[in-house]
Amino acid sequence: MTDTIRYDRGADGIVTLTLDDPDQSANTMNRAYAASMSAVLDRLEAERDELTGVVVTSAKSTFFAGGDLPEMARATRADAPALAELLGTIKRDLRRLETLGRPVVAAVNGSALGGGLEIALACHHRVALDVPDSRLGLPEVTLGLLPGAGGVTRTVRMLGLAGALTTVLLTGRRMRPIDAQAAGLVDEVVATPAELLARARAWIAANPHPTQPWDRPDYRMPGGTPSSRSLAAQLPAFPATLRKQLKGARLPAPEAILATAVEGAQVDLETAFTVETRHLIGLLTGQVAKNMIGAFFFDLKAVNGGATRPSGVDVAPVRRVAVLGAGMMGAGIAYACASAGLDVVVKDVSPEAAGRARAHAERLLARKVRKGRATEADARAVLDRITTSDRVDALAGCDAVIEAVFEDPALKRSVFAEVLPVLAPGALLASNTSTLPITGLAEGVDRPADFIGMHFFSPVDRMPLLEIVVGGRTGDAALARAFDLGRRIGKTPIVVNDGRGFFTSRVIGRFIDEAVGMVAEGVPAASVEQAALQAGYPTGPLALADEVSLTLIQRIRRQFEAAGEGVLPLPAHRLVDELVDAYDRPGRGAGRGFYGYADGTRGRLWSGLADLTTDAGRAVPFTDLQERMLFAEALDALRCLDEGVLRTETDANIGSILGIGFPAWTGGVIRYIRQYGAGPAGFAARATELAARYGDRFTPPADLVDRLAASATRPAEAVSAA
Ligand code: NAI
Repeated sequence: MTDTIRYDRGADGIVTLTLDDPDQSANTMNRAYAASMSAVLDRLEAERDELTGVVVTSAKSTFFAGGDLPEMARATRADAPALAELLGTIKRDLRRLETLGRPVVAAVNGSALGGGLEIALACHHRVALDVPDSRLGLPEVTLGLLPGAGGVTRTVRMLGLAGALTTVLLTGRRMRPIDAQAAGLVDEVVATPAELLARARAWIAANPHPTQPWDRPDYRMPGGTPSSRSLAAQLPAFPATLRKQLKGARLPAPEAILATAVEGAQVDLETAFTVETRHLIGLLTGQVAKNMIGAFFFDLKAVNGGATRPSGVDVAPVRRVAVLGAGMMGAGIAYACASAGLDVVVKDVSPEAAGRARAHAERLLARKVRKGRATEADARAVLDRITTSDRVDALAGCDAVIEAVFEDPALKRSVFAEVLPVLAPGALLASNTSTLPITGLAEGVDRPADFIGMHFFSPVDRMPLLEIVVGGRTGDAALARAFDLGRRIGKTPIVVNDGRGFFTSRVIGRFIDEAVGMVAEGVPAASVEQAALQAGYPTGPLALADEVSLTLIQRIRRQFEAAGEGVLPLPAHRLVDELVDAYDRPGRGAGRGFYGYADGTRGRLWSGLADLTTDAGRAVPFTDLQERMLFAEALDALRCLDEGVLRTETDANIGSILGIGFPAWTGGVIRYIRQYGAGPAGFAARATELAARYGDRFTPPADLVDRLAASATRPAEAVSAA
């Protein structure tokens, strides 16, 4: 098996272990690592008398990436014994390292996430190099897993139950080195690689006989163990807090992490390791981890790696961006571009209106500086890249324009006509419209091949998704440039074809329609909200509808109707019309919608809702409430695939999770179909049942099962399985 760890003993008796898997660009906890580490420990133990200490570092730009996700994604119940053995070996050797009787220091030269941090935690001392993109943490929970190479057990013993759970394990936070130091995961942070090794050696010299805190006779777990009186009283609050954080959703990984931490805190170290392994294997052989690894590892890598960017199209990168409209979206887009080092010129109808883009950037930058995420000089440099104006000639020489004026096709056409003459020749022409077909907007310009949709999400600085919309006449070069620009500003770009509402706005519309429809039928509004939250949606649909504004929802529906793009009359539409037109409850902006708002804070659901429904107090099984929302979106996503609006399942999965809040545990809207029941057949059977009870919109496409079965293995996962 490949040797993944180099062993170098210096004249001073210090052994440097260099993690360097020759077969991969990053080190992972695969079988080769396990075998290499066992061999290393045999040798360290054999040479112990001649050693003064050990430094663990890496030859990669990152320290160590984490678990072997392709292998984990394939795990079945039959693999459980082999996995238990592998985890046992990995843990045994890390334990041998920390009990070697010689000082062991981790010289963390780059990101140490998951397994990487677990190796570092088995060292007596951790020094981290402060490189800009280095991140440390245990993000397993975000993949439906738990840190099973001692990560739960050791963080609980280092930080105490409450500290480990809230700062590290349940959040999965990826911390910068200085934040990891503040959290107690790292002892020292240094600025240069030379200092990194020098500090590691200095620590070894000063601490010839260290032991881990938990191996000392006077060790006490910070905050106490579950059997100590102080902690016992707080313990019942742990699951309650978790439930509140998850808004009632039942997710296996956080629950397993909580159980592992609490159970492990009551037993000796070895038993705690066993508890950890068993809970991890439970997760690994379950469906949710597979869904999440599929989406957040395979799909995300494929999307960000450019799977849908036209290949072999070499285009000039964008350098100077014109943003039209300094509203919520324009200001956000300008900030994102300037933060990525691009020059930006923002134009609005008056200097004051345009100036809001700068004010927005100033606010965000001040917060960054306050939190230590940027220096004053960085902030100034970003601001200096943003120019604002009400004059068209200020846009001279821009090689891309992103339009974000009001959602009005005539206005959009006129602003493009106005700016085209001053832009650089061949400039990329992009619209941030959220619903208007791109092909139609492109009719207003003389170079439709350069026209494309770049649909950002609000708030732009925090939402990672970019939906690139290819119009009927958009060329490959424009697509490639828009894709590269999206990547440059740190977004995850999915690529879809044109259609009203494209993919995201259209499918989220089905979610809101279904939810509002249930209220119209007489299901208590609070039950609808709860059903969505417990299904794993980040926001209840009625709160979301208020946020979007019912007036906008109404307007979008009317645009669909006006365009003759058949919208079935649904009970939801009647309810929205009544709320807006008869009761003047247009949404959050007005302080009244499904909810009431006081000083911008959401209050209670409006008590008058029940009077507007056909069958007040109607009882629909809770699972049906949840699945009506999930299925409404999934079935419409399938239609998007059929109609060619969606080009790939991968984009559907990533777009649904990152853009419109489809529950992350599903691994995305199409994967939800694949994993439901016994696969697509189970989904189709359940959809048929929902159709019989609630309406034809749930009738599944006749060839659904065959179609999904025909492409059963997802490309990215198939490649790594080979
Ligand atoms: P907004 O109302 O906050 O901003 C629109 C801005 O355009 C205003 O500052 C207005 O003064 C400016 N404007 C109007 N006429 C102009 C002209 N002739 N030249 C230059 N500027 C002009 O609107 P928001 O929310 O920023 O939306 C803008 C676009 O982004 C719309 O097409 C919308 O559908 C789309 N969008 C909105 C999202 C959201 O969550 N609000 C999400 C994604 C896309």
